[in-house]
Amino acid sequence: MPSSSTYRFSQRAKNITSSTIREILKVTERPEIISFAGGLPAPVGFPIADVKQAIDRVLTERGHTALQYGPTEGYTPLREWLAQDMQQRGATDVSVDEVLIVSGSQQALDLLGKLFIDPGSKVLVEAPSYLGALQSFSLFEPEYVTVATDEGGLIPEELTAEQLNDARFIYALPNFQNPTGRTMGLERRQALVERCAQAGVPIIEDDPYGDLRYAGKALPGLLALGRKAGATVIRLGSFSKVLAPGLRLGYIVAPAPIISKLVQIKQATDLHSSTLTQMAVYETIKNGFLAQHLPAVRDIYREQCGYMLDAMQSHFPSSTSWTRPEGGMFIWVTLPQHIDAQELLARAIERHVAFVPGAPFYADAAQHNTLRLSFVTVPEARIREGIAILGRLIEESHASPDTPGIELDAVEPATMLSGTDPTISTPASRLQAL
Ligand SMILES: Cc1ncc(COP(=O)(O)O)c(C=O)c1O
Repeated sequence: MPSSSTYRFSQRAKNITSSTIREILKVTERPEIISFAGGLPAPVGFPIADVKQAIDRVLTERGHTALQYGPTEGYTPLREWLAQDMQQRGATDVSVDEVLIVSGSQQALDLLGKLFIDPGSKVLVEAPSYLGALQSFSLFEPEYVTVATDEGGLIPEELTAEQLNDARFIYALPNFQNPTGRTMGLERRQALVERCAQAGVPIIEDDPYGDLRYAGKALPGLLALGRKAGATVIRLGSFSKVLAPGLRLGYIVAPAPIISKLVQIKQATDLHSSTLTQMAVYETIKNGFLAQHLPAVRDIYREQCGYMLDAMQSHFPSSTSWTRPEGGMFIWVTLPQHIDAQELLARAIERHVAFVPGAPFYADAAQHNTLRLSFVTVPEARIREGIAILGRLIEESHASPDTPGIELDAVEPATMLSGTDPTISTPASRLQAL
């Protein structure tokens, strides 16, 4: 039986570790598991009929173009639509040659890693940050420098001149951050773009959830503020959360010289994103579809978030704190200092509840007493049941702070494992992979 050591993989490939979330998702495939671990958008929000009609129209009216190779930059009408959308959001000078269509914003992170990071390059990230970005950037071996965050998101005042000096970029998630659900206030946004303008450090603004605001007031994005302050902002957007992730369509807005380089890198990666999908998405959204569609999606998320916050209020001990997001999909929980969320997960899975421990979201100095909950795809009754179970487990850990956490090997393999991945064969190794 060949194993990975049979092959002469590159050092880069050897350094790749499995995504925590994917590993947990394998466990949570079993129907009896109440999973707050996934980050999947609510499928009831997918506009299937509209996308079907759009694909049909595109194939009927322009089938030969839709099925042909296209330009790496992307389908021009979609890029024009996006440039106009950015202008309406306050970045009034964005032009079409500053827009690149990509295959999901995850691809944008990979392309930007290739563009900016040499081994040892300094990259500034929030603590905690989006795990998928850390995975993408890590392939290029940066030296991470973490920027402190609090309830109001990234703290620009904590950015020292030494941190900014020589940094290739700062990666920021201003709206309903993944994993914490936190949002940066206007003053901090302003302060961040001003500091980065002064220091000449580009900002990567990753904002896939910005349109899923269901409470509070919309704030100007870093791109709009940055253009006014003279900062370089590279904005990443996505159709995954406003239409559907299976479309695999996202975009980058950045100064033209950055886009030109990204185009060369994308060419080497996949030539271009799917022409058919780009044309169908443009066909779907061109006449104001999102303005009608998004309020219904926001209603679903608001309601789901409310169920979870309500259940947490009833069942979580007062020693535990959590965020109250104004949009997006995630709540971030801080447990009492002595409770390790990874150990809590082992016990939660025994009781058929799953979540993502917080530690992997930190580029360094992980806080092990944190975890992420997603409320989007779980029905109300299951949210209440799962949160009640978690509350009891936290109470139990809390009641006996000196009791060591459960032995990972003591977890029943049959309880822990449902995936078919043969490389992960014991509960302990699965948890190590997280
Ligand atoms: C913050 C953030 N950025 C990027 C992505 C990647 O999204 P996609 O590639 O589907 O556009 C995600 C996915 O959940 C995310 O949470």
